[in-house]
Amino acid sequence: MAAGKGTRMKSALPKVLHRIGGRSLLQHVLDAVVGLRANRTLVITGHGAEQVEAAVAASGAGFVRQMPQLGTGHAIQQVVPELPDDDSTTLILNGDVPLIRSETARALVEAAAPGRLALLTIELADPTGYGRILRGDAGQVLGIVEHKDASPAQRTIREGYTGMMAAPTGWLRRAVMALNNDNAQREYYLTDIVAMAVAQGLPVVSTPAPDETEVLGVNSPLQLADLERRLQRRRAEALMEAGVRLADPARFDQRGELHCGSDVEIDVNCIFEGKVVIADDVRIGANCVIRDATIGAGAVIHPFTHIEGAVVGAGSLVGPYARLRPGAELGNEVHIGNFVEVKNSTLGAGAKANHLAYLGDTTVGERVNFGAGSITANYDGANKHRTVLGDDVHVGSNCVLIAPIEVGAGATIGGGSTLTDDAPAGELTVARARQTTIRNWVRPQKPKKW
Ligand code: UD1
Ligand code: CA
Repeated sequence: MAAGKGTRMKSALPKVLHRIGGRSLLQHVLDAVVGLRANRTLVITGHGAEQVEAAVAASGAGFVRQMPQLGTGHAIQQVVPELPDDDSTTLILNGDVPLIRSETARALVEAAAPGRLALLTIELADPTGYGRILRGDAGQVLGIVEHKDASPAQRTIREGYTGMMAAPTGWLRRAVMALNNDNAQREYYLTDIVAMAVAQGLPVVSTPAPDETEVLGVNSPLQLADLERRLQRRRAEALMEAGVRLADPARFDQRGELHCGSDVEIDVNCIFEGKVVIADDVRIGANCVIRDATIGAGAVIHPFTHIEGAVVGAGSLVGPYARLRPGAELGNEVHIGNFVEVKNSTLGAGAKANHLAYLGDTTVGERVNFGAGSITANYDGANKHRTVLGDDVHVGSNCVLIAPIEVGAGATIGGGSTLTDDAPAGELTVARARQTTIRNWVRPQKPKKW
């Protein structure tokens, strides 16, 4: 169910498309059911339906629209024509309850499979707003009463309904079509089917949720942030159990896939996005943002480094304050220092650019030393051009290499040069005005006042 508006988010974005851990709330729910191998997965959309459907189209789920939204029972009525009239099991989840685990969803389905109505429940310190589980003297479930319809005595019940249930499909079809909206909110309550089951003799079972985190919904930015931290805690714990040393699991953000080898250390406030693969013995300093990257064994990423779409070779040192942009491929033992930007460039083993440099569209040979303040001028305002530096090239400080240009192996480029032509291998090339001294020159002087 993902048709609700999410008024309290106060956002133009449909609620189920807000993200935690880099993925939409609805995508988390869809990911949790993948392992159940359902015959069909249907998403009920309403508010922002087109946007929601487009966002999760790749999941392979089908969509059913609910317009207008007259309650959870009304939502399920909309899918009745799509459901088979048989003894298969239908699982109902909420698009805004993202941290439900596959195992919990599976347990609910298994509880319902023998022809029972299975409810996922939770014991809450403060059950305000939740439907309450009503039980008979023998502890048997009698029904669910919504908070707004509950008597003062019923409101003292702390056992709440999580909004998730599983039911025999054929029975569910008939039950939801028999619902009415005779209640405080004038809504069709899905929860009213529980009392129907009891009246008809269909067994009702309750399954307690393993932990609160799995059943918390998102209604506000505050709750979104709370679930983000809970999700990050889960991910941090999984990494630490695998041996990764996080300086502080509370200051860690994984927004995509992160694979770490052994003896990896990650300092505080790092953000990992997309697919990041980190080999053994890597150290990552504080405040790095790393997206879609591969970091080789033993590499050290110093603080405040930004890496995107790049490969860092084994034993390389990067940062602090370095930026590797898409297409940056560093060989082994490469050093990239502070305020160095590398884009779409390959650096051979042992190459160094330690201070204040820009390498764009460049092929850098092995052991090249690229001086402080030097840049490749790869863009003429319309086209990008390549620079090729052979092995063992030494580029002095504050040089501009105007591409396309090639510097032969072993060449030295004098500091302050602006190169517009190729430089031959093995030679010293200097491209700047020769220093001259003008003797007995007198500096202009202001007229003296006193
Ligand atoms: C529902 C349950 C309540 C339970 C609570 C748990 C009912 C009547 N009540 O209450 O017992 O304790 O969840 O969070 O089911 N939705 C639609 N179409 C609609 C209405 C809702 O798709 O017409 C979707 C919402 O987008 C959401 C889910 O159903 O994903 C739950 O709706 P919500 O309004 O949050 O239910 P509650 O009133 O909180
Ligand atoms: Ca409601």
